Amino acid sequence: MNQYIAQLARMGAAKKRTIIGLMSGTSLDGLDIALCEIGGSGMETEVVLKKFTTVSFEEAFKNSIRSIFSKKIVDFEQLCLLNPWVGEKHASIILATLKSWGIDPSEIDLIASHGQTVYHAPKILHGHPQFGNGTLQIGDGDHIAVKTGIITISDFRQKHIAAGGEGAPLAVYGDYFIFSKKGEDRIMLNIGGIANYTFLPGNLDASKIFSTDTGPGNTLMDQLAQKHFDLPYDKDAAIALKGTVNNALLTVLLKDAFFEKPFPKTTGPELFNLDYLEKAIEAAEQKGITVYDTMATLNRLTAQTIVAAIQKGQELIGYKKLSIYSSGGGMHNPLIMEQIKAALPESTFFTTDALQIHPDAKEAVLFAVLANEHVAGGVLEIGAGKAGIPAVTMGKISFPK
Ligand SMILES: Nc1ncnc2c1ncn2[C@@H]1O[C@H](COP(=O)(O)OP(=O)(O)O)[C@@H](O)[C@H]1O
Ligand SMILES: [Mg+2]
Repeated sequence: MNQYIAQLARMGAAKKRTIIGLMSGTSLDGLDIALCEIGGSGMETEVVLKKFTTVSFEEAFKNSIRSIFSKKIVDFEQLCLLNPWVGEKHASIILATLKSWGIDPSEIDLIASHGQTVYHAPKILHGHPQFGNGTLQIGDGDHIAVKTGIITISDFRQKHIAAGGEGAPLAVYGDYFIFSKKGEDRIMLNIGGIANYTFLPGNLDASKIFSTDTGPGNTLMDQLAQKHFDLPYDKDAAIALKGTVNNALLTVLLKDAFFEKPFPKTTGPELFNLDYLEKAIEAAEQKGITVYDTMATLNRLTAQTIVAAIQKGQELIGYKKLSIYSSGGGMHNPLIMEQIKAALPESTFFTTDALQIHPDAKEAVLFAVLANEHVAGGVLEIGAGKAGIPAVTMGKISFPK
């Protein structure tokens, strides 16, 4: 038998596994690395986050990815070359991080690699009648496995699409396994480049769970900060706080068909980009708007669409009293959080810190949980027959040799 198949079988039968979860979202800020000890599977999953760091990407690395990122037309050779190169870069970052932690790669059972999303094209966005949903993450898992010597599970989103989903949000599985709590109706809100949430009913009824993107998280604000200030993002909403919300522009921005679509739905910077903003500025006849007012308006757009999606969820559930647990970089934006809290006074707010998971690590942890499920679980009752939550385990397995 192949030694790695035997290793996987032993791993799957063991009480717990040491798994590195990796996440690099649409913000392109850095690689989140979560070293987790995971026991059990499914609803018995138990996660201890042992170590966590975000390793920022160098500008040259970001620019190489930006040359193809969320673009309809790209240099195909560049895309072909970036796929292995990003995998190798991620592998080097992992090895350096393990070294800094004083941990030998042989102590790690699995790497769960999300890869770098370069294009997300759900049918609701691309509109080509002959094609279904599509999404593309690069940074091939074989390169990570060979370079680190650690079995790597990657490319989680294709199975989700193959089984009828849009390839996102995948957080719903891990959210259900590790954050469901009897007697507490929870919303797990993640504000990354794009914002999404999962509703977890306190009666633990899997058929009541739903998960959806709400629209832009930080992506539009990041793009504006990068274009006009040469800053990666609007730190602590410093720019937005200098401006005033422009209601004419906000009204046009809110008119996008995405916001009217039913749950579950997903999106990306393929839709929410500076082109969308410029067209809205034109349609609203606000060409003279200052960049500060634009930032304030985009900040409001993020907060307001998150609130609207949660309120729509509250209607579906039939009541308003929820515990909302935030994660992702957008929760560090004080203006966004202030607006969300003010608009949902019946709900109680926490961060995932209250659940022993560092909010910046949450997404990476959830990919480690998906890898754990792939190897040690596989009986997914969740979402049976429910749109957007196909009952599948996800990821492709790469061996080091
Ligand atoms: N102090 C802060 N103030 C405002 N925004 C912040 C702050 N810290 C992080 N962010 C936002 O969070 C983003 C990164 O969020 P992250 O959850 O890593 O998203 P992704 O999953 O898309 O990589 C940054 O690009 C930035 O917009
Ligand atoms: Mg990030």
